Amino acid sequence: MGDPVPEATDRDDDGFQDDLHAPPDVDTTRPSIARVYDFLLGGKENLDVDRRAAHRFLNVVPEAKQIALDNREFLRRALRFLVGEAGIRQVLDVGSGLPTAGNVHELAHEFAPDVRVVYVDNDPVVLAHGYALLNHDRITTIIQADLRRPETIFEHDEATALIDFSEPFAVLLGGILHHLHDKEDPYGATAHIAERLVPDSYLLVSNFLDDGEPRAKAAERAFMDSGCAAAASARGTSSAASSRGWSWWTRGSST
Ligand SMILES: C[S@@+](CC[C@H](N)C(=O)[O-])C[C@H]1O[C@@H](n2cnc3c(N)ncnc32)[C@H](O)[C@@H]1O
Repeated sequence: MGDPVPEATDRDDDGFQDDLHAPPDVDTTRPSIARVYDFLLGGKENLDVDRRAAHRFLNVVPEAKQIALDNREFLRRALRFLVGEAGIRQVLDVGSGLPTAGNVHELAHEFAPDVRVVYVDNDPVVLAHGYALLNHDRITTIIQADLRRPETIFEHDEATALIDFSEPFAVLLGGILHHLHDKEDPYGATAHIAERLVPDSYLLVSNFLDDGEPRAKAAERAFMDSGCAAAASARGTSSAASSRGWSWWTRGSST
């Protein structure tokens, strides 16, 4: 058995300060996946409601904090490949999340300082933090757009100002596809992005996979019950991609 899910508290008594830097119209009574993920990564931009959602998940998957850290490490290795080896100089990070240790543009710039990065997220708290972080950055920006309407990403003025979509670019879909319900068509969104890729471009995907692991359904339910996320059963994303004739390059995940 895992730890009990903490009760909701009126005041913060768990060592965190609930002074989230959120725009006034953000509903802080509901968890957000960006803030839950921030908690799992050891960040401070999360609320009591987010931590309770995280604990529901941790009860099913006690190693969830390590999985989150491993996912960031995977991104770092992938950027080393994309920028350091494959010569990518334009990156679209969809579902970028709250700033954390080793942000994508910082990692990319370790390998090439001229890489242009556009962060995309639909969470206004992520946007607020992104604007603050990137205030004076001329080759990195953040836009508010939704993967469920992928065309809005590619048509966004700030994205097209920074990224030339007729030149090779990389799209990162890190830890996002499983937050789209099946009825929101994660495969269609992925396919839309795939169709935008020009030769020598790359698509990175990391997501939960219901491959029959006994805890997969319980983990999915924990997310659903917390009200902040959708299915953990992104099975088929890769087969949908393969059926479109993509070739998968997997070395970045193992080096
Ligand atoms: C678990 S975090 C992943 C962060 C980062 N990509 C990583 O791999 O470490 C998922 C992010 O996707 C964002 N997100 C969820 N659904 C989205 C959507 N439909 N469109 C854009 N962003 C979305 C959330 O706000 C959150 O910041």
